Amino acid sequence: MSTAIINGHQASTDDYTKHVFGAYDSTRAEQVEDESKTCGKILIVLSWIVVVLTMPFSLMVCFKVVQEYERAVIFRLGRLLSGGAKGPGIFFILPCIDAYARVDLRTRTYDIPPQEVLTKDSVTVSVDAVVYYRVSNATVSIANVENAHHSTRLLAQTTLRNIMGQRPLHEILSERESISQHMKALLDEATDSWGINVERVEIKDVRLPVQLQRAMAAEAEASREARAKVIAAEGEQKASRALREASEVIGDSPAALQLRYLQTLTKISHGKSSTILFPVPLNMMSLFMGRTKEKE
Ligand SMILES: *[C@@H]1O[C@H](CO)[C@@H](O)[C@H](O)[C@H]1NC(C)=O
Repeated sequence: MSTAIINGHQASTDDYTKHVFGAYDSTRAEQVEDESKTCGKILIVLSWIVVVLTMPFSLMVCFKVVQEYERAVIFRLGRLLSGGAKGPGIFFILPCIDAYARVDLRTRTYDIPPQEVLTKDSVTVSVDAVVYYRVSNATVSIANVENAHHSTRLLAQTTLRNIMGQRPLHEILSERESISQHMKALLDEATDSWGINVERVEIKDVRLPVQLQRAMAAEAEASREARAKVIAAEGEQKASRALREASEVIGDSPAALQLRYLQTLTKISHGKSSTILFPVPLNMMSLFMGRTKEKE
């Protein structure tokens, strides 16, 4: 500001300050970078000196071990150490200036608690699922997200709700496999930037409200009953047709009726021994039959 007034160019003050401060900013940033680098180097050297001076004891602090399934992400003075995550086995850290985080690479199971979801056709169902996931890139899972596991779990819950909300009930009940696949793809894509790999999603249970269960059961029962009635009616139709054919055959020859009569008699005599049979000659029957015919 003072320079501008001295030069007498009041109008260009703003441009001037912008220009000056812009240049100042970039040079200042470079300076800070350089300073922190040299400062860091000094600290690293100091740390090495401390390690060497306190030799046998410092080794206890400097060597760390991670298990076969773990990795260590090391930060030196706040910066990620180049070369990615260390491990498995022994790795080396400098006291005071290194910080490290252990990351477990094993597959984890998350049991999504039952979610009350409104389906596309406005039915409330309770759905639960299991998600299997693991850390695929330890560095990214520490550096990009505050808590990769918690984030993945929350995302799994909301994804489950979203997917169920987009589908009608009959699809949810019949297409679990494809819904699981779809959900896995969505989750995997979203968690990529957190270094998480979703291996599997399984929909465990879809619970319907009790009233709807009753209604569906009643519907199924009614349809079964209707089918049973149709089958019975068809059977009766066939039976009556067969009876008519039989009566025509019998009516063609009187001897056939006589034989049938005798057959019936033998059948009855095979049954209860206490039944008393009194055979009536068929001619008497024909008397009645003749009478009915006359009436007609
Ligand atoms: C993890 O991600 C970082 C950054 O994207 C990458 O440089 C590194 O190679 C990855 N490590 C593995 C094991 O994939």
